[in-house]
Amino acid sequence: MHGIENLFENNRAWAKGITERDPAFFERLCAQQSPKYLWIGCSDSRVPANEIVGLMPGEIFVHRNIANLVIHTDFNCLSVIEYAVEVLKVSDIIVCGHYGCGGVAAALKDDSLGIIDNWLCHIRDIYVKHEQKFASVGGENRVNLLCELNVAEQVANVCRTSTLQRAWTRGADVCVHGVIYDLRDGLLKDLGLRAERITDLQPAYRLAVSK
Ligand code: CO
Repeated sequence: MHGIENLFENNRAWAKGITERDPAFFERLCAQQSPKYLWIGCSDSRVPANEIVGLMPGEIFVHRNIANLVIHTDFNCLSVIEYAVEVLKVSDIIVCGHYGCGGVAAALKDDSLGIIDNWLCHIRDIYVKHEQKFASVGGENRVNLLCELNVAEQVANVCRTSTLQRAWTRGADVCVHGVIYDLRDGLLKDLGLRAERITDLQPAYRLAVSK
C-alpha cells in the first residue's frame, strides 16, 4: 500500500490544533513572512530545522542539502542566501552540521555511490586541506571531526558570497554562525564560529563591492 492518507490526517489535526490555540495564526502568516533566521542544514530527516530550535512556521527560512554545503556555483543555495539577506533581511544565518552525518562519512570512504560522489568531493577537499588534524584520530571521531571542519568551511563559504559582502559593505547587521547538532541527545552545540563584518573575511576573498 502506497498511502499518504495518514499524512493528510496528521495535517488536519495539526492545523486544527494551531487554530484552536491561535485563531488568527494562518491569517497572519498569509499576510507576510518575516523570519529573523536563515538555516542552512543537512537534508537528514533526523535534523528538522524548525523543531530542534522550537520555532513555528514563519520564523525560520530554510535551505537543506546533503551535508549542509554552500558551494560557490550552487544557484539554489546562493538564491536562498540572497533572498534571505536582501528581501527578508534576516539578522542571523545559521550553518548547522550534525555529528554522524552520512554524507561526511561517505566522503571518508572510497565507495562510489553515483552522482553524489561529485557533491561529496567538496568534503574530500576539506579532509585533504586538514589531513594533518586526523593523524591521531580514529573511528567515529574521524567522521565527527570532519563534520565540525565542514561547518567551519561552509560558514566561510557563506561569508565569501557576493551577497554577504555587499550586505556588510552597506552596513547590514547580519551575523553568520556555525553550530552542530548531536543526534544522540538532541542538543545543538555552538562551535564558536561567528562572522559579522567584512573584516572577518580573509583579504584574498574580499570584493570591491559598491555600497
Ligand atoms: Co547529514
